[in-house]
Amino acid sequence: MRNPRFVTLYLMQVLQITDSHLYGNASGNLRGVETDSSLRNVLDAAFAESPEYAAILATGDLVQDDPSGYLRFKSILGTQRAPVLCLPGNHDEPETMRHSLNQAPFHYCGAHLIGAWQFIMLDSYDPGHVGGRLAADELTRLETALARSPAHALVCLHHHPVPTGSRWLDGIGLANPDDFWRVIDAHSQVRGIVWGHVHQAYDGERNGVQLYGTPSTGAQFTPHSDRYAVDSRPPAYRVFDLHQDGSMESDVRWIAPANFRQAASR
Ligand SMILES: [Fe+2]
Repeated sequence: MRNPRFVTLYLMQVLQITDSHLYGNASGNLRGVETDSSLRNVLDAAFAESPEYAAILATGDLVQDDPSGYLRFKSILGTQRAPVLCLPGNHDEPETMRHSLNQAPFHYCGAHLIGAWQFIMLDSYDPGHVGGRLAADELTRLETALARSPAHALVCLHHHPVPTGSRWLDGIGLANPDDFWRVIDAHSQVRGIVWGHVHQAYDGERNGVQLYGTPSTGAQFTPHSDRYAVDSRPPAYRVFDLHQDGSMESDVRWIAPANFRQAASR
């Protein structure tokens, strides 16, 4: 049996939720899924699995073009003891989000040292575009955060910085990946890059850095599709096991079909 003190010291579990696409109204529905109840079901499943996450990463598209959705996000996650680290996606309104999520447990972007790890939350929102871009000041912020701490780093952003093999999605990923990789490649303590936006699971590796795309807490997109297509897979979340020596494991967990009824497939 594992000694709980040993686990606390040497293994930190972190939860990622992404693309919740909330509306101000609880009955708001996107692609056949009520996004409010779907997020609640995902959190129920995640906390049934592990009641103690060191942090919760919310990697964008928290709301669906509806700033009143931030009140809903706050009411669903506001009692968390762990910090809820948030960054914006293309369906967010960054300034409203920053002001709405300005009190614990919520943190908007920034860089956060927790245990032996640093979590760097980037803003890839590009006004007027579905795809993303890291502006010069965000790249500087990334560089500064990595230069100031040798802690193992997990870098999070909304838009995917590598192709996913899906033509339509790869046209709306990160528009300046070379600028991003130039900074990442200069800092050997970066262990993983984490994103949302793609509504599907992606696991990869680049120059020894692990790459993780994570499905939505609502409806998913069909992998490897040339055109926009909604998948029948259920809502999901991702768990990271982060070790003090910088090693890590991560898995996507799909919620049980009993907790998921997609309107389109009823
Ligand atoms: Fe997105």
